Amino acid sequence: MLKTKVTEMLNLKYPIFAGNMMNVTNPEFAAACSNAGALGILASVMYRKPEPLRKAINQLQALTDKPFAVNVNLFPMLMPVKQIDLVKVMIEEGVKIIETSGHKAPEKYVPLFKENNVTWIHKCAGIRYALTAEKLGADIVEVVGYENGGATGRFDIGTMVLTPASVDALKIPIVAGGGIADGRGVVAVLSLGAQAALIGSRLLLTKECPIHENLKNALLKAGIYDTCLVMKSVNATHRVWTNKAAQKVLELEKAGKQNEVFNAAAGTKTKEMYDEGNIDAGIISCSQSIGLANDIPTVKEYFDRIMKEAEEIIQKLNS
Ligand SMILES: Cc1cc2nc3c(=O)[nH]c(=O)nc-3n(C[C@H](O)[C@H](O)[C@H](O)COP(=O)(O)O)c2cc1C
Repeated sequence: MLKTKVTEMLNLKYPIFAGNMMNVTNPEFAAACSNAGALGILASVMYRKPEPLRKAINQLQALTDKPFAVNVNLFPMLMPVKQIDLVKVMIEEGVKIIETSGHKAPEKYVPLFKENNVTWIHKCAGIRYALTAEKLGADIVEVVGYENGGATGRFDIGTMVLTPASVDALKIPIVAGGGIADGRGVVAVLSLGAQAALIGSRLLLTKECPIHENLKNALLKAGIYDTCLVMKSVNATHRVWTNKAAQKVLELEKAGKQNEVFNAAAGTKTKEMYDEGNIDAGIISCSQSIGLANDIPTVKEYFDRIMKEAEEIIQKLNS
């Protein structure tokens, strides 16, 4: 079994973080990821208010006795939520690992994390932000490269370069993601100095993932060229699957119709894709790694398989 600083710190079976995904990593799915040996991460922002979040955390606690984290989403939102109220619920419910994500590290929450012995993980897409998080007291930083599904940051640096550069710049453990789909990707980031691999998009193609079968089947057919970068013009660049809605967003951006961009990219439309299977209703964050996915296993089958691959690769390199 592969042990790293991060598997030891968080008591994980595998050096894998299952990326939090808005409206996807609900209690059932996060628990499936934790039970299969990775760090499952609940997306808190989808609950918006304290009491629904409390219920979701309690549900997750009932579904797993393995380590899990809860995410605090600090990216700009069309309909902002009162994050501090959500963070307080996490603390009240005894959540021991909190992941924050966004460019700026959340300075004001740090005392709350420290007073309550929370392991604080911050996710960002650039070294400057990672260094700030370390300075503020983060225990682990996750960096995501340009290949990744979702926010790509402003610097367009790929995982292959961002990972070792972050490892060199920071003293705390780094977890790296962006483009990882299989055991080869896991070994690649570990060899670049990361202490675990962060995987998001590839998990969309698992049996337990709560998105419509139509969408899973469409993503299964997607290749490595089937993603694009939207919302660059509004300073919120995201890598998404290239469907009709993404093409529409790109057209609106080209025409300078910024106000309409936010409407076309609204999360409510993405939710409609997840629930009703209308694959062109909205945009969905998606990594280039989707082109490396060829099946829809269970989460356990998937993690067991890629970690077996990883161990075999390491053995082969050693011989
Ligand atoms: C459908 C989807 C939704 C996501 N939603 C969020 C989110 O709400 N907050 C966040 O911090 N990251 C979000 N992410 C990013 C993932 O947590 C993770 O950082 C990323 O997927 C890792 O790169 P990969 O997609 O190349 O595996 C999302 C990713 C996907 C694919």
